[in-house]
Amino acid sequence: MQLKNKVALVTGGSQGIGREISLKLASMGANVAICSIPEAGEDVASEIKKMSLNSKAYITDVSNSEETKKLIENVVSDFGGLDILINNAGITRDGLAIRMSEDDFDKVIAVNLKGVFNCSQAAAKVFMKNESSAIVNLSSVIGLHGNAGQANYAASKAGVIGLTKTFAKELAKRTIRVNAVAPGFIKTAMTDALKDNVKETILDQIPLSRLGTTKEVASLVGFLASDMSSYITGQVVVIDGGLFI
Ligand SMILES: NC(=O)c1ccc[n+]([C@@H]2O[C@H](COP(=O)([O-])OP(=O)(O)OC[C@H]3O[C@@H](n4cnc5c(N)ncnc54)[C@H](O)[C@@H]3O)[C@@H](O)[C@H]2O)c1
Repeated sequence: MQLKNKVALVTGGSQGIGREISLKLASMGANVAICSIPEAGEDVASEIKKMSLNSKAYITDVSNSEETKKLIENVVSDFGGLDILINNAGITRDGLAIRMSEDDFDKVIAVNLKGVFNCSQAAAKVFMKNESSAIVNLSSVIGLHGNAGQANYAASKAGVIGLTKTFAKELAKRTIRVNAVAPGFIKTAMTDALKDNVKETILDQIPLSRLGTTKEVASLVGFLASDMSSYITGQVVVIDGGLFI
């Protein structure tokens, strides 16, 4: 129970990796707020409440800074504080760069990159009053290596790494640790949407010969969110089955 009495906020906690992270942090003892759009993720909050913990689901668009500030205020007032922020909300709008629309570029940057900035800025103001706090950002191996058809996504996830290192440097003196995880291909709705031939090509390249699971990513995030990683900050931890050894 390394997170007993802690309050965590997981953005995009209604499904996929974010859902699993929310349940993992709860299993470690944390009270968990989640936010998503268009649905709040009430079923995840109900599941956590069954574990005799506090949980609440909020509808919030992380790309909107006013909504994000209000979210942090509401979480602090509903839970009595905030100790952990997991910036997990993310989207894709894939297409070759040469044909990518301005809207598809802007939307992905707004959610995946500006969303991380909005939530981190608002949460950091609360974290200043804590003894210790942690932010974990969901980047991607695509942010480290690029990928054909994902210029917007790759740029957003590379940007998340820049934000991670900058927030880590600015907040370390207040004992706020900021790290990122960079998953490879994880079995979720995002990867289920890939065409079969693309999936086969990806599997051929992964030394562990399978996609990762949301549970495996959640375990890593749980480690980085807790005092088990108390001397780790500003790092990007790759979890990709050996794809980019
Ligand atoms: N699935 C993978 O293989 C993989 C690999 C690397 C990184 N990631 C990253 O992990 C994170 C989760 O991915 P996933 O596969 O679980 O995705 P998903 O599509 O299953 O879930 C995304 C979540 O984000 C929420 N969301 C989307 N836009 C939002 C917004 N504007 N405001 C608030 N919430 C919003 C959705 O409601 C949902 O809860 C993303 O940041 C993704 O880029 C995923």
